[in-house]
Amino acid sequence: MKAGTALVTGGAGFIGSHLVDRLLQEGHEVAVVDNLSTGKLKNLNHRATFFHVDITSEALTDTFRRLQPDVVFHLAAQTSVSASTKWAVNDGETNVIGTLRLLEAARQTGVEKLVYSSTGGALYGDPVENPCSEDAGIVPLSPYGLSKYLGEQYIQLYARSYHLNYTILRYGNVYGPRQDPRGESGVVGIFAKAMLAGKQPCIFGDGGQERDFVYVDDVVEANIRAMEHGDGRAYNIGTGTGTSVNDIFQALKQITRYRWNADHAPSRPGDVYRIILDCRRAAEELGWTPRVGLDEGLAHTVEFLRDHAGVPI
Ligand SMILES: NC(=O)c1ccc[n+]([C@@H]2O[C@H](COP(=O)([O-])OP(=O)(O)OC[C@H]3O[C@@H](n4cnc5c(N)ncnc54)[C@H](O)[C@@H]3O)[C@@H](O)[C@H]2O)c1
Repeated sequence: MKAGTALVTGGAGFIGSHLVDRLLQEGHEVAVVDNLSTGKLKNLNHRATFFHVDITSEALTDTFRRLQPDVVFHLAAQTSVSASTKWAVNDGETNVIGTLRLLEAARQTGVEKLVYSSTGGALYGDPVENPCSEDAGIVPLSPYGLSKYLGEQYIQLYARSYHLNYTILRYGNVYGPRQDPRGESGVVGIFAKAMLAGKQPCIFGDGGQERDFVYVDDVVEANIRAMEHGDGRAYNIGTGTGTSVNDIFQALKQITRYRWNADHAPSRPGDVYRIILDCRRAAEELGWTPRVGLDEGLAHTVEFLRDHAGVPI
């Protein structure tokens, strides 16, 4: 795709802000729509044009009309599983209605390609088989998992009805610098931040719950590839390897030189126990494989937190 205008919704957030940096590096004009509910202006590259707009508001359509974006990366979302179990309506409004409003705006302004950030961690429930492929049953255990999936379904409807071109990326647990501790994979940020401050992190449940942790730069690379590949397809974006919360605690303990044990609390409603993503489809069709290993990725994340010690992230 030519270096045209890219619009990133949620571009002041964790993953979105890294994507904005990369798109600017690649020579695109980049615009960002964000309501700053969890995103932060300090995440945002000053070379991007910022629109303080809520995706559920009518102002979104006006923004699309003004910008006429060629490609849209849709990342703006309510991203917390536990918040979705408490405030399911708010979750649905942002993730379902917001996505629907975005699709209407994209249809009206003739967007060439939509790349949608979905979840691999919260769609498949506790799958019968791990690693779990894109063809596994969709059985979300939380309103968040369902609302992200309804977003996918609306996108597919718009593709059938209006020939909207799209790629869906279903991420594992994304971690790295600028990660919001409240988000889907906050555990790395929460543990590391607590340990660096000499505070005791809390493990929910027995800590044996496994996730597929994928570094943010690898997720950005998948988005870049999806601009030109994977039309009309959904891809798991993870590592194919499971890591338990206990393992994350131990790895971070070493990196931060933390000396104590974790606190424990009962598991939380909506949490999946074991999810590992089969990412062979992304390798075959997008030519994408993860490059950053867990130890390296965790070290970068801790380094970032150390450099920002005392600064709320
Ligand atoms: N972090 C993960 O592990 C993970 C895993 C799977 C999927 N995802 C998906 O990736 C995307 C980005 O997640 P993230 O981890 O960067 O989270 P994040 O919370 O850092 O980013 C979300 C951004 O969307 C913005 N936003 C929220 N509601 C909005 C609204 N109504 N209007 C405009 N902007 C709004 C927030 O201010 C924030 O900047 C989300 O769609 C999320 O569902 C994330």
